Amino acid sequence: MTDIRDDATTGFREAYGYEPTGLWSAPGRVNLIGEHTDYNLGFVLPFAINRRTVIALGIRDDTVIRVASEYADEVGAIDIAELSPNRLRGWAAYPLGVAWALGQFGADLGAVPGVDIYVASVVPVGAGLSSSAAIESSVAIALNEVWLLGLDRPTLAKVGQLAENKVVGAPTGIMDQSASLLGRRDSAVFLDCRSLEAQVVELGFAEAGLELLIIDTGVSHSHATGGYAARRASCEAGAVAMGVASLRDLTVDDLPLARASMDDETFRRVRHVVTENQRVLDTVAALRSSGPLAIGELLDASHRSMRDDFEISVAELDLAVEIAQSNGAIGARMTGGGFGGAAIALVPSGDISRLQVAIDGGFAEHAFRQPTTFTVNAADGASRDR
Ligand code: GLA
Repeated sequence: MTDIRDDATTGFREAYGYEPTGLWSAPGRVNLIGEHTDYNLGFVLPFAINRRTVIALGIRDDTVIRVASEYADEVGAIDIAELSPNRLRGWAAYPLGVAWALGQFGADLGAVPGVDIYVASVVPVGAGLSSSAAIESSVAIALNEVWLLGLDRPTLAKVGQLAENKVVGAPTGIMDQSASLLGRRDSAVFLDCRSLEAQVVELGFAEAGLELLIIDTGVSHSHATGGYAARRASCEAGAVAMGVASLRDLTVDDLPLARASMDDETFRRVRHVVTENQRVLDTVAALRSSGPLAIGELLDASHRSMRDDFEISVAELDLAVEIAQSNGAIGARMTGGGFGGAAIALVPSGDISRLQVAIDGGFAEHAFRQPTTFTVNAADGASRDR
């Protein structure tokens, strides 16, 4: 953490030639359970992780926003009056998209000063750990503060989501930004994506002798194209066929009727969402009553549902999950939007190294690219750091 804050300060100084006004940071997230339920207005249980994006920011005396980062060589610059979704490109679309989206949530962009922003990050990109939400959330809390907007964190999550949807062009839900903004140390964020009511649920991994291992397959995915949007469309079709506003309104008892009301593929998409919502509720109940040792089967069932019903897994993710399950993990599943990215495994601490070796060996046997494996802890959400 200290290093990355220093990197942000140094980067800022080198890019702009003066000292930043302040530093803000926001974490990536991992989703423990509740996949593709957020845009169906259901339940999710993600947590913020101990890998953060830090931004250094300086206030200007004109109306220009400049953005620089370790992601790109050049410094991007645009006048605040010129911000619009179709003018923003590349990685700069994330921070500048947030500035634009704040205007959509009531900020008077004609009355705020320009800023210089430098982004430094240790959230792995493309691993399904929401490096983009970490940028959006850190920029959102920083601009909210220096532009004196007074927006609360659930609203800032919507700001980040709007930037992602309209500027980046990915039709994603509210989960990632909520986790990044609302996360708490050693806890998960239990979010009702309809009311946006969030509860903190203690994870208790360390007390139970468990660690959460990320297995990043390195298979790349983009939610701005293809499968993610297609799944979302199927969910909407399923809700229409059932005459409900969103799949959130269905329970497992409605599944027999759903089966008779739509084609088999749409039904399986619906069954995933409906059963996944129930698994989130069951996971929260199990964590509260018995602790994390009791959630393994729910994680495993979530993976099967994504593999067989929602069909968003890939061979590398299935292999990672299988190897984890047969090498000591109490539960494992792919995490995030799917079609690549990472799997998670909840593993007794003493079994982590053995599992890592087994994963490397198994991937080599299948001639899959070597995955990256590392453990994460649940961390606090976005903060002002200096
Ligand atoms: C991506 C999206 C989230 C969510 C997950 C799937 O991470 O950004 O909004 O839909 O996929 O659960």
